[in-house]
Amino acid sequence: MSTQAMSTHVEMTRSAALYDRALAILPGGVSRNAALHDPHPLYVDRGAGCRLTDVEGVTRIDFANNMASLIHGHADVDMIRAVTEQLRRGTAFSVATEVEIRCAEHLRERNPGFEKLRFVNSGTEALMVGVKVARAFTGRPMIAKAEGAYHGGYDYLEVSQAPTPANWGSPGEPGRIPLVHGTPASAVDEVVVIPFNDTDRTIALLDRVKDRLACVVIDLMPHRVGLNPAEASYVTALRDWTARNGVLLLIDEVITFRSCYGGLQQQYGVSPDLTALGKMIGGGFPIGAIAGRAEVMDVLNPRSPRYVFPHSGTFSANPVSVGAGLITMQKFDRAAVDRLNDMARVAMKRTEEAIRETGVVASVTGAGSMFRVHFKPAPPRNYREAYLAPQENARLKAFLNHMFDAGFILINSGSVALSTPMTMSEIDALIEALRSGFRKIAATP
Ligand SMILES: Cc1ncc(COP(=O)(O)O)c(C=O)c1O
Repeated sequence: MSTQAMSTHVEMTRSAALYDRALAILPGGVSRNAALHDPHPLYVDRGAGCRLTDVEGVTRIDFANNMASLIHGHADVDMIRAVTEQLRRGTAFSVATEVEIRCAEHLRERNPGFEKLRFVNSGTEALMVGVKVARAFTGRPMIAKAEGAYHGGYDYLEVSQAPTPANWGSPGEPGRIPLVHGTPASAVDEVVVIPFNDTDRTIALLDRVKDRLACVVIDLMPHRVGLNPAEASYVTALRDWTARNGVLLLIDEVITFRSCYGGLQQQYGVSPDLTALGKMIGGGFPIGAIAGRAEVMDVLNPRSPRYVFPHSGTFSANPVSVGAGLITMQKFDRAAVDRLNDMARVAMKRTEEAIRETGVVASVTGAGSMFRVHFKPAPPRNYREAYLAPQENARLKAFLNHMFDAGFILINSGSVALSTPMTMSEIDALIEALRSGFRKIAATP
């Protein structure tokens, strides 16, 4: 039933009217499923700092930050100044710009392991190019990725992004489940699905395919696997095994780059061969980057004898995205990273206290400037433990609705991403709303 039909006796809100129009032209009424919300998506009028005002004039505190991509929140003044200047001088060229070099140099200053890098237009594209670089360098076709991990929309990386208990198979040999109906079996066959944080089973699976494997792709705190940081011993085992077997290690830092000055990998002391970046490094504009060892990245270098991967992209390294990214990262210096992480640590601790006080069955995972609430008695360590049973899913939905009504936008998994305009007063307000939400959930049979 359309929203119009449902609301014949009440005056339609502007959002409901917009959604009716959207349903007639956009599948599901949206261009990304993350925007879906019952009974209709929120239509934004404007954002400023950590607040977002919808077309009805309601302002909420935004703890989603466009899926953890806006480190300084909305409409940051320095980003606006840099972008406005650039807009007057042109937005995209088929020739190079200096700001592209400056942004790349800044990233290498943050992480010296980024010996060479290339910009692309999204995290998906960064991961796709990363996998293809690994294949081009090793001459091997297969990849390994963790069960449940989200790495964007490339066929191979979508395998077992969202398996269910009905098809995920045994933990020793997780099923290879395509996400999209019609995915070629040949693509699925080139993927080995590994159980996150389970070293013995992972190594056993990798050993079986070591001569055909180009890379192991891993996110050190995979959001959909539960936003649980990888165990240090697991990361070390992956680094050792890949180095021993001539397989590349590709770390997806599209989300986690915000966690440390040069990415979460610095906290683990691990140096991957390749790192995929996105989200935050574009300062609010579409971007991705693939960075890594010069020898490996030289498969993209037409001046190198290693050149085997012709690569291009119409909007890659456009000066708006890299210029916005550069000023954004310059402002997100070591002190700003530490301040945000400290604030998140306090918020996480107080969330745990609220769970204890209210007696709700829930737990918290996270690190850096993000954390996630699970309606599970203990923090999940892998995708299967994080998977929501129908009743847990219903609790999460009720909780998110409560938070929305209380004036907070969270990521729809129950995750929270902090931004630098936030102060302890926003954290206090968040904890208050979380506490009342937990009370409500605890009182529901
Ligand atoms: C860990 C991770 N990798 C890759 C991607 C894909 O990035 P994009 O949406 O920019 O294509 C995402 C997006 O949410 C992500 O969270």
